[in-house]
Amino acid sequence: MQDLLKLIQERHSTRLPFDPDRPIREEELRQILEAARWAPTAHNMQNFEIIVVDDKKILEELGALKGAISETFIQENYQQLSFSEEELLRKKVGVLATMFPPSWRTPGVKPVMEEGRSRPFPVCPTLLIVLYDPSKRAPASEGDFLGIISLGCMMQNLWLESNSLGIDFQIISAIAGGPVGIEVKRILAVPENLKIAFTARLGYAAAAPPHTLRVRRDIEDFSHHNHFGNKGIG
Ligand SMILES: Cc1cc2nc3c(=O)[nH]c(=O)nc-3n(C[C@H](O)[C@H](O)[C@H](O)COP(=O)(O)O)c2cc1C
Repeated sequence: MQDLLKLIQERHSTRLPFDPDRPIREEELRQILEAARWAPTAHNMQNFEIIVVDDKKILEELGALKGAISETFIQENYQQLSFSEEELLRKKVGVLATMFPPSWRTPGVKPVMEEGRSRPFPVCPTLLIVLYDPSKRAPASEGDFLGIISLGCMMQNLWLESNSLGIDFQIISAIAGGPVGIEVKRILAVPENLKIAFTARLGYAAAAPPHTLRVRRDIEDFSHHNHFGNKGIG
């Protein structure tokens, strides 16, 4: 159990280019998909399909796609930024502004797409494209809320299993809708009725990762004992 907690605590996002010549082996992929297979889903609907992309030509085609960044993303992203490690440590939620180009973290400045940033799929040996059918919702689940939570459970299983095998992992969610999503669906021959839930890059970082501060709220910050507002558990 201690090992599981350690794995959960050490699971992380790797936002670096991955070594294209260090593939994920088929046994490892099977193990990662086996973890997805056993994820809990509402009504055990197993409401997902996963396309594993490791063909170099298709990866190149996806890698060449260019995306624009929406004003809404920039505005809402800004609200989650901390401008120093001290600020992030104090807030305990959100992300460091230095993760983003200067124009994305300066209110009033028109966001500029940097060449690397405009390509949603940085180099990697394997991409997972996770699909779901929004018309097949969990029973009486408004907006398929329960189905979407189920996809989150499955995402976590993929991520934990990958990290446990020493494989770096990054979720790329921004392309799910919009023109890039449409292009991805065309390239991968995804049926019209299926939507992209999220995509994930798998691989091995091509360079040593820089120091990254990871913060979380304390248990007392989000837990309530018996009544809301009675912070902590004893
Ligand atoms: C639903 C969801 C969507 C996410 N989308 C992205 C994304 O598009 N790009 C990215 O780099 N990270 C994405 N992340 C990763 C989060 O930013 C990350 O988990 C969070 O900042 C905590 O950092 P950690 O994963 O290193 O613990 C996403 C995570 C989740 C759960």
